[in-house]
Amino acid sequence: MNFRDKSNISFIKQKIEDLEKLTDQDKPYTRIVFSEKFYEARSWLKSEYQKLGLSASTDEAGNLIGTLNSKTDTDKVVIIGSHIDTVPSGGRYDGIAGVVAALCVVKHIKENDINLPFNIAVYDYLGEELNDWGISCIGTRGMIGALTPEILSRSNTSGDVLRDEINKIGGNSEALTKPLPVIENILACLELHIEQGKVLEQQKIDIGIVRSIPSISRFNVEVNGQTGHSGTILMDQRADALVASSEIISFVNKLALRISKESNQHFVSTIGKIYVSPNAAAIIPGKVEMTIDLRASSQNSREQYLKELEEKIELMNKSGSCKIVMNNIAYAPYVEMNKELVKLFKKSADTCGMSSQIMDSGAGHDTAQLSRMAPASMIFVPCKDGLSHCPEEYAEISDISKGTAVLFKMLENLAELNKS
Ligand code: GLV
Ligand code: MN
Ligand code: MN
Repeated sequence: MNFRDKSNISFIKQKIEDLEKLTDQDKPYTRIVFSEKFYEARSWLKSEYQKLGLSASTDEAGNLIGTLNSKTDTDKVVIIGSHIDTVPSGGRYDGIAGVVAALCVVKHIKENDINLPFNIAVYDYLGEELNDWGISCIGTRGMIGALTPEILSRSNTSGDVLRDEINKIGGNSEALTKPLPVIENILACLELHIEQGKVLEQQKIDIGIVRSIPSISRFNVEVNGQTGHSGTILMDQRADALVASSEIISFVNKLALRISKESNQHFVSTIGKIYVSPNAAAIIPGKVEMTIDLRASSQNSREQYLKELEEKIELMNKSGSCKIVMNNIAYAPYVEMNKELVKLFKKSADTCGMSSQIMDSGAGHDTAQLSRMAPASMIFVPCKDGLSHCPEEYAEISDISKGTAVLFKMLENLAELNKS
């Protein structure tokens, strides 16, 4: 597959443009899982699968799958997947580049009547981005049996229960108590994604080959104070939940900075979501809810961080006027990609004449969930200024096309290893 092929380049460009139109109009680029726009994008993708001659189906976890069966009789499958949902005001490439690249690979296979000794399944993994239910990677957690009854019965702020949403989109939440049968037949799970960082762009490298994905933990922090009149309650009589929260926000930031320097490994922590109640100018804030997002490549650093944060909260509870409660709402462990697949991706990039670098991911991905149960690996392509999760996110089509060629070469290399 030639990455300069004009028909592939215009295919990739067109599909990305099609999807970028399916956004909340007043908030580009927003396509939150289970929203109206998400359903529209799913219909679009289903018809793309059908146009390419793939059979379209939805699995129990709500993933939208396009399958191309091998002419050789086999149950073995190579999954190429990513996601088409976005964060609020997110970008046009995060997840989308991977789904479009997978479509382009299938187009090439079809046009050239190539037979591979395994089935190919293109996946739009359901709801990769963190959502209102406090959980990311819904579809891939579902595939590996990691959606617990507690997670499935969570409600979002509108009162919609996650289990019902999965069923409505065509899944079957009853079947998610154990890994889905497909897991047994997976030869490889492959994903192309934009880097969402600056390394490839700055070093002018075509392809990043992912070696590891950090653990991701999310905690809900509830700070309970006392609402009151902002004009009458004197400063030393207050239990201001927002003031106490600001102390936690600064503490978390400084703590993560220190630990990241000490450990010299990927370690970041963010408080990016906060609800203040009642959120009125003349009322002392009585309650704050916020989410801590923590990513770590070292378990020791994660434990150190949690120990110090818990001590801080205990101290504030003893000596302060607010009551603070912290609960873990999501966890995905640190994972390493399958070493053989990493090597094979390297070989694929070399054969395509692309420069490549083995690197660690900073972001979370569906491939991290799948790698817990199946051979999995992913590649990155450069994105402009490392910007992602924002409307400015941008990747050159030519760079996505290079990654697509490597993805296809990877299938050829896997075919070589698996020929009977
Ligand atoms: C996925 O987008 C993440 O938050 O890392
Ligand atoms: Mn993504
Ligand atoms: Mn994302």
